[in-house]
Amino acid sequence: PTTRTYEWTISQKTIAPDGLERPMLLVNGMFPGPLIEANTGDRIVVKVTNNLTNGTAIHWHGMFQNGTNWMDGSGGVTQCPIPPGQSFTYNFTVPNQWGTYWWHAHAASQYVDGIVGPLVIHSPKEAHLGHYDEDVIVMLSDYYHTPSPTLVSWYLSPASDGSEPVPDNGLINGRNFFNCTLDPQALFPTHAPCQSNAPRSVFDFQPGLRYRIRIINAGSFADFQFSMDNHTLSVIEADGVDMQPVDVHRIPIHVGQRYSAIVQANQKVDNYWIRAQMNLNCFNEENPALDASVKALVHYAGAPVSQTAKSFDWADEAWPGRCLDLEASMLKPFVVRDAPPADIQVILDMSFQKITKKRVSLGYVNETSWVPLKKAATLFQANKGNTKFAATQFIVTLNQTQTVELVVNNYDEGSHPFHLHGHQVYVVGEGKGRYIPGESPLNTINPLRRDTVTLQTFGYTVLRFVNDNPGMWPFHCHINPHLDAGLMVQFLSLPTAVKQAFKIPAELKKMCSA
Ligand code: C2O
Repeated sequence: PTTRTYEWTISQKTIAPDGLERPMLLVNGMFPGPLIEANTGDRIVVKVTNNLTNGTAIHWHGMFQNGTNWMDGSGGVTQCPIPPGQSFTYNFTVPNQWGTYWWHAHAASQYVDGIVGPLVIHSPKEAHLGHYDEDVIVMLSDYYHTPSPTLVSWYLSPASDGSEPVPDNGLINGRNFFNCTLDPQALFPTHAPCQSNAPRSVFDFQPGLRYRIRIINAGSFADFQFSMDNHTLSVIEADGVDMQPVDVHRIPIHVGQRYSAIVQANQKVDNYWIRAQMNLNCFNEENPALDASVKALVHYAGAPVSQTAKSFDWADEAWPGRCLDLEASMLKPFVVRDAPPADIQVILDMSFQKITKKRVSLGYVNETSWVPLKKAATLFQANKGNTKFAATQFIVTLNQTQTVELVVNNYDEGSHPFHLHGHQVYVVGEGKGRYIPGESPLNTINPLRRDTVTLQTFGYTVLRFVNDNPGMWPFHCHINPHLDAGLMVQFLSLPTAVKQAFKIPAELKKMCSA
């Protein structure tokens, strides 16, 4: 095993990812931020220096952090934020997982403003090793011309009436074109310098090679339909779990999710569109400036260099009836594992309600809307053996190593990508309406396992996970405005181990008194 060491400085910088200038929060001045690449078993050490005016924390999305929950980087949960002007070094190993992950700020809404990047773990145990020649990272995100604090305060005010801010654009690997004459004066006016010729991302293909495309939805709100004109996507991974290959043309991907697909560069030497079609169903308002068809290009070596392509969308009538979309039921984990029988069941009802004095629409899980505690991390409280948590912290305590069945009923008209920190979950049931024990169908035979699960509109989802990883683990909607609106619950796993076995570094606790 190797130690992979990184030194990061986070600071504000004005850049123009799509041609329009705006201040962003960047790691080492990069957007997207630096790639972390390691092998299974390696140690990852990241020294983060915070040059922002607010506290920050970096979360390693999908890392199990087995025995190092305090390195999970969840602001307010596993740590107090790194104060402005200070540094903190994250240090953890990656013992038994591989695949495609990402990292992002987990403090306020900072990741929406640019603190995101890819995290890739290689392993000789990977199922599809040898079936591809090169790795390509494709990060998708919705994108806003207004800094997130302004968006969030509008969203959490009566003025929004619960409607999320609508993106101004979408990006692929931090780039896209934007037509400056459409600069939206509607919802969030901007008056920034703007160039209408910003380049799209271009991915170079060598004819004959096989590429593993690692698709990451690092956005904050929109889900996408991903495709590559003329090329079939052979899906082999979902959220760090190897899958039996399944050939499709389009992949729906929600916020926080990842897929890998093998693509053969077996088409005519030319340029082809890569498409990330934003799902407009989730938007309550219209943004006339938004081109929801976000694009990048595949450029075959030998073809003219171009910012456009003449290729057809798989959904186009040029391919009558050919477009095959990935559905969750097609995904079968490569290493077959049946879901263990449930020992206990936890039922979570999630909804949006306007029950505060200000009549602001907030996210509730079982009647609690999460509010981050200013100077406290719930983990430290549990570490002291204190289990009386603030009323805004809905904490489910799981005392034993056993299989937990999580039933989540979604009483909202939107779909929600829920992420459980520190675990992969078995997705054993999904359907319309509320879960009815004994009636709603479940599948425990080699079900999909992943770390970010889309809860469908007015539907139920049944998940199982083995409660064997001590710590305080958030389970939350990864749509950033929804997290800001409190759509989160925490699991306190194995509190005895948290109290007795956790040696939380003093410099981490010290940040709570800064
Ligand atoms: Cu991607 Cu709570 O995290």
